Amino acid sequence: MRINKNYLSCIMKLLNSYKTKIAGVELDSYICNASGPLDSTLKELENIAKSTSSAIIMKSCTIEPKEGNQEPIYTRLPLGSIQSMGLPNLGYQEYVKFAARLKKYNKPIIASVAGLSVEDYQQMVEAFQNSDVDLIEVNLSCPNLERKPQVAYDFKQTEKVLCKISNLGKKPIGLKLPPYYDLIHHKQMAKLIEKYNIRFITCINSVGNALIIDSKTETPVIKPKRGFGGLCGDYIKPIALANVRAFYELLKNKISIFGVGGIKSGADTFEFLLAGADAVQVATTFEKEGSNCFKRINRELKEILRKKGYNSIEEAMGKLKYL
Ligand SMILES: Cc1cc2nc3c(=O)[nH]c(=O)nc-3n(C[C@H](O)[C@H](O)[C@H](O)COP(=O)(O)O)c2cc1C
Repeated sequence: MRINKNYLSCIMKLLNSYKTKIAGVELDSYICNASGPLDSTLKELENIAKSTSSAIIMKSCTIEPKEGNQEPIYTRLPLGSIQSMGLPNLGYQEYVKFAARLKKYNKPIIASVAGLSVEDYQQMVEAFQNSDVDLIEVNLSCPNLERKPQVAYDFKQTEKVLCKISNLGKKPIGLKLPPYYDLIHHKQMAKLIEKYNIRFITCINSVGNALIIDSKTETPVIKPKRGFGGLCGDYIKPIALANVRAFYELLKNKISIFGVGGIKSGADTFEFLLAGADAVQVATTFEKEGSNCFKRINRELKEILRKKGYNSIEEAMGKLKYL
């Protein structure tokens, strides 16, 4: 049977139209999990591997296994969640081993490292450079460690880390960033990103040091840090969108951007696409709905794109229109 070349190229175009790339690594869809919920054990990671999440992002790890903070550390809220997990994880060596076990799923694997010192970051990035992961997300923004400020709010400390980790191997390095609220800070961070050849960023981590009070009990809803924790979900979507957009305007075509914060539907996802995200991650909705959320959000996004007449992810990416 002879196959018409045009027909074949149309089919190929359609199949590729919902794919995207982060730092040159191809993702089958625009949506994947975020580091944090339900990605600490091999069983949980295999659940993500078998879902339609387009990548397997692992829990942020530390050098030694870590138990995390004192309960209660997580509360669902009407419009999202507040958490102060304190990085409970099995220690980086386990995640290096998990990556080897997850390779058979043929899906990009992303490590997330959260050092407690510059040396920790160096040791873990080096180990993941020699592992089966495809990308390394360097978490510079955990808001929930007692007496450990978020690294990325201190540009000198950030530079110390970047200096030690940027030349340890060929796998692309990305930074998980906290929200910035002044454009001067986006500019300062963008300069460091360019200087140290950072290939992707993930915007944003939870909005740190929020306080949710239960008026019935007259207490905070979580225990660590006297109730101060990371806010997630709908509450933070406008801040996440603004951070994606600010970095997109500063660094477009130079790096890839993962958007994260408040994504629970295709409509939310489409907003991140317009702002300039190359792909998005989902945390709170995944924790609440389980891994079926990836399929649902993807279906809703495709429907929006179709209705609006966009033929691919690429066509709409960054195309926010100004008033
Ligand atoms: C329970 C929980 C644990 C998290 N742990 C991590 C983590 O280990 N590393 C990290 O970079 N971000 C962590 N985050 C932040 C998320 O990756 C994400 O940036 C944030 O929750 C915003 O996304 P969302 O609105 O979809 O929840 C965590 C979030 C939640 C809810």
